[in-house]
Amino acid sequence: EEAVLEERFEARIDEGAFIEAKDWMPEHYRKTLVRQISQHAHSEIVGMLPEGNWISRAPTLKRKAILLAKIQDEAGHGLYLYSAGETLGTSRDQMLQALHTGKAKYSSIFNYPTLTWADVGVIGWLVDGAAIMNQIPLCRCSYAPYARAMIRVCKEESFHQRQGFDSLLVMMKEGTPEQRAMVQDATNRWWWPSLMMFGPPDADSPNTAQSMRWGIKRLSNDDLRQKFIDATVPQAEVLGVTLPDPHLQWNEERQHHDFGPIDWQEFWRVVNGEGPCNRERLAARVKAWDDGAWVREAALAHARKKNTAAEA
Ligand code: 3HC
Repeated sequence: EEAVLEERFEARIDEGAFIEAKDWMPEHYRKTLVRQISQHAHSEIVGMLPEGNWISRAPTLKRKAILLAKIQDEAGHGLYLYSAGETLGTSRDQMLQALHTGKAKYSSIFNYPTLTWADVGVIGWLVDGAAIMNQIPLCRCSYAPYARAMIRVCKEESFHQRQGFDSLLVMMKEGTPEQRAMVQDATNRWWWPSLMMFGPPDADSPNTAQSMRWGIKRLSNDDLRQKFIDATVPQAEVLGVTLPDPHLQWNEERQHHDFGPIDWQEFWRVVNGEGPCNRERLAARVKAWDDGAWVREAALAHARKKNTAAEA
């Protein structure tokens, strides 16, 4: 019985069908989606922290307003994604518990500090740029609720990337030598961690094969990373910054840019909790959860009162 159901499921995936929450799905398909969607949601929520550091320090009201809008968007992206996760039978409390106890991951990129105002622009340019590269194929993910969430997210993400690039362009073209040096310094610090956002090399990726088989992942980690590099090199030229990789060069034969080795020891160290800001980020999320307990209790008590009144 189970084997027949599994076969029919695989046939649907091969036909390019989209799976809805009420459709039959293999337990492993459900589990890997809960894993990926919840960690994607955690990334959005934790991703608010590095930038939040600069709301009170933004150089102009315009930049402050843009940054506030971007951070609010990310909170919304997190909520869409937690909701998509809930369609798979898990609960928000369970997903958040996994984050707070260190069981669940979030994107390693958010474990780096934002040292100057240029970091905010470079995060928009590189981190949101990488996120868009990764999220566009997810709009065609075989799990329909996740794909639908991604369509809305991608629209807002392109504003995030453009505002970051714009703020850097102003500093590079109209700024002082110190501001140009600040942009170059931020680019040096964020380039390699941004490449790591796409995940380990395909050969070291335990989830890629199955996720591609099931239409969850439409392009592999290495293919997306290469696409991102090819798209970003000309943008760095427009900005007038150099990317911190002496091996970076166009390969006419491959029709792609060759690039230098990525430090996968650093990647796994940061993923496993030893990055510059891991403890601080997780502590901030746990504190927010504890400080917000009374709001959740009050809302639940109010809902119960309203329901009993309605039943009476
Ligand atoms: N940071 C932390 N963990 C990472 C990682 C990273 N950059 N890249 C990979 N990993 C983890 C994986 O989660 C997996 O661990 P797990 O099995 O415990 O979950 C392990 O490393 C091996 O990686 P795989 O390549 O086998 O795992 P996946 O097939 O899941 O691929 C992925 C990793 C490409 C990140 C994929 O999960 C994915 O596309 N996720 C959705 C997109 C996402 O999460 N993006 C985060 C970007 S930040 C963001 O969106 C906020 C933006 O608005 C700024």
